[in-house]
Amino acid sequence: MRIQDKVVLITGASQGIGAACAGEFARAGAKLSLTARSEERLQQVAERLRRVAPAGALVTAGDLTSDADRRQIVEQTVERFGGIDILINNAGAGLYLPSWNAPLEEVRWLMELNFFAALALTQLAVAQMRARRGGLIVNVGSVAGKVPLPWMTIYSASKYGLGALTEGMRMELRRDGIHTMMVCPGYVKTAFHENARGGAIPESVAHARRFAITAEQCATAIRRGVERDARTVVTPRAAWFLVVAMRLFPGLVEARLAAVNHTA
Ligand SMILES: NC(=O)c1ccc[n+]([C@@H]2O[C@H](COP(=O)([O-])OP(=O)(O)OC[C@H]3O[C@@H](n4cnc5c(N)ncnc54)[C@H](OP(=O)(O)O)[C@@H]3O)[C@@H](O)[C@H]2O)c1
Repeated sequence: MRIQDKVVLITGASQGIGAACAGEFARAGAKLSLTARSEERLQQVAERLRRVAPAGALVTAGDLTSDADRRQIVEQTVERFGGIDILINNAGAGLYLPSWNAPLEEVRWLMELNFFAALALTQLAVAQMRARRGGLIVNVGSVAGKVPLPWMTIYSASKYGLGALTEGMRMELRRDGIHTMMVCPGYVKTAFHENARGGAIPESVAHARRFAITAEQCATAIRRGVERDARTVVTPRAAWFLVVAMRLFPGLVEARLAAVNHTA
């Protein structure tokens, strides 16, 4: 899809990958609607965009675990721009607690943000995309949504769910001219690990940060994926190795992952 003049709603745009996407899509000529909980950080992102997008971006602060906030964000975007062409469901959080004893209220919170918020926003956006006969839903998942990572099983489950939703919905909406794209980043240098809802990343895994990409590199991969109508973007591409290895040699990969010391 050509990005120039398209209305792009980005969630989790106050920092990390979402903020980098705001810059990337602004430079590609998009009209931006940005959301996250922190109004202050969103305004800082919007201010930085002014050089490339003098018209500025619409900023709507809100908590995506709230149904009322989700509705308000979509309504404000449609009111300002007349519709939504591209929805980037990027907001998300991690949880480094064992699935077998993680408090269920924490699990429900994570699912509300990582899965239900994306579904709810998509339902709201698709309602008007169908009337306009076109649109794109971009869901930011994770490599952990292709290979279950035992130090964040619940998080993996939320991203597996998002992946299945993305693929099924692509087939459901094909006749309406609406496309969906799944993004599966590996390790990205953001505050994601510090912002996790509970627990901490195991030290041995944190060492993998030397292979990490920047949020800007991730945003560029997303923008390129949108431009070439990709179905799945795995970034960095080397992460495909793990995904394919899990398909071909599941026993071997499971044994290696199980051997990681999961206590931080
Ligand atoms: N970093 C990685 O290594 C990595 C790897 C794979 C996938 N991902 C995925 O990439 C996406 C972005 O992650 P990131 O690395 O950029 O993390 P991040 O720096 O922690 O950013 C998360 C964003 O989500 C927003 N957010 C969190 N809770 C929210 C809520 N309840 N309501 C509304 N917004 C909320 C945060 O803004 P506020 O705090 O202002 O609300 C922030 O803008 C996530 O879906 C994550 O799962 C990240």
